[in-house]
Amino acid sequence: MNYDLSPEQLEIQQHIHEIAQREWSLDAEQWEKAGAIPHAVITQIAEMGFMGLVIPEEYGGNAYDTLSLILVIEEIAKVSASLAICVSVHNSVGAWPILAFGTEAQKKKYLPRMAEGMLGAFSLSEPDAGSDVAGLLCTARRDGDHYVLDGAKNWVTNGANAGIFTVYASTDRSKGSKGLTAFIVERDTPGLVLGKKEEKMGLWASDTLSLTLEGVRIPVENRLGEEGAGFKIAMAALDGGRIGVAAQALGVAGAAFDHAVRYSTVRKAFGKKLSEMQPIQWMIADMARRLEASRMLTHRAAWLRSTGQPCARESAMAKLHASEMATFVTHKAIQVHGGYGYVRDYKVERFYRDARVMEIYEGSSEIQRLVIARSLLRDGVAPF
Ligand code: CAA
Repeated sequence: MNYDLSPEQLEIQQHIHEIAQREWSLDAEQWEKAGAIPHAVITQIAEMGFMGLVIPEEYGGNAYDTLSLILVIEEIAKVSASLAICVSVHNSVGAWPILAFGTEAQKKKYLPRMAEGMLGAFSLSEPDAGSDVAGLLCTARRDGDHYVLDGAKNWVTNGANAGIFTVYASTDRSKGSKGLTAFIVERDTPGLVLGKKEEKMGLWASDTLSLTLEGVRIPVENRLGEEGAGFKIAMAALDGGRIGVAAQALGVAGAAFDHAVRYSTVRKAFGKKLSEMQPIQWMIADMARRLEASRMLTHRAAWLRSTGQPCARESAMAKLHASEMATFVTHKAIQVHGGYGYVRDYKVERFYRDARVMEIYEGSSEIQRLVIARSLLRDGVAPF
């Protein structure tokens, strides 16, 4: 078995690592305090090609394979989990559904602009329907050559600055999940009202918005896929998005681990370094093995997706394991730092807050377990 990255992937990893450390690591804390990623950073990221990670060259992107994509997300997350989720959501659940399910006209119209930095947002969850996607209440009624969308959405990452939103609504409530349809909604469409920015526990620089749709008229040519195909489009997009969250978790946990190990080698207690004490060594060992296991699951899921194989189960496993790992590792990183880990002067405090939501968004840990169990019971245990 060969787990090595290809020379091209190693080059991408090294490239983004250097950029992230040089360009953003000193500023990331300031973005959190300001509650926003500067527009100039999004422009810079787009110029580097990272807003077109999943977009083919013919539409202005650079068509990375999924493993390369997650290497980028992980390296960005080491310095800013907020920027990482912005890039991940934009690529995985913003641009990818248009690439995979859009008409040629939709691809030509939207993908080049997205590769140039027009942010994409994914608008699925609602105030009363998060995990239970089939139960969403937003409706889309056909009216001649338009659809009229009404309803409320929330937890929309990138919402404040997105140029387009993929909105999922019911065109036939009697059909449940088979009645959901996806739409491309442009930011300035009349009736699309951007709501309040949530004040979150972490990821302060990443904006999370609620939306209201009040008689939003969408031309039929902006329907994404067929009527009734919305649920499957959302699920297929989330298969990729969840690998992105796993990569974000690897980045944040990897950074927390590095900080903890470094601190343990300089801080002394009882006449020796923390790193010379067995309880600390055990924490370091437990952090490292969970990180490594998460990395393997994440890389495997990414490889399956890159090679066009089904990956819902593996993507759920990667996201579940990596997000719980990140909670564990960032918790232990604070423990190694003692009281210093609890104050804002030390980065591990931020890492801990940022990690927490990874067990919730793009499908909670409970939903990932459900996806894994259903897949195992339906398809059996595939040989690894
Ligand atoms: N790819 C393609 N098709 C899929 C699929 C996938 N990954 N998963 C399911 N389907 C298909 C099934 O095969 C089935 O098709 P048929 O009826 O033709 O056989 C159909 O979809 C319905 O599947 P289920 O019966 O499994 O559907 P369900 O109603 O029981 O729901 C669920 C399953 C796993 C609970 C799903 O609703 C789910 O994943 N919920 C969580 C949603 C989620 O992640 N929300 C987060 C939103 S995004 C966010 O956090 C904000 C942000 O900005 C980042």
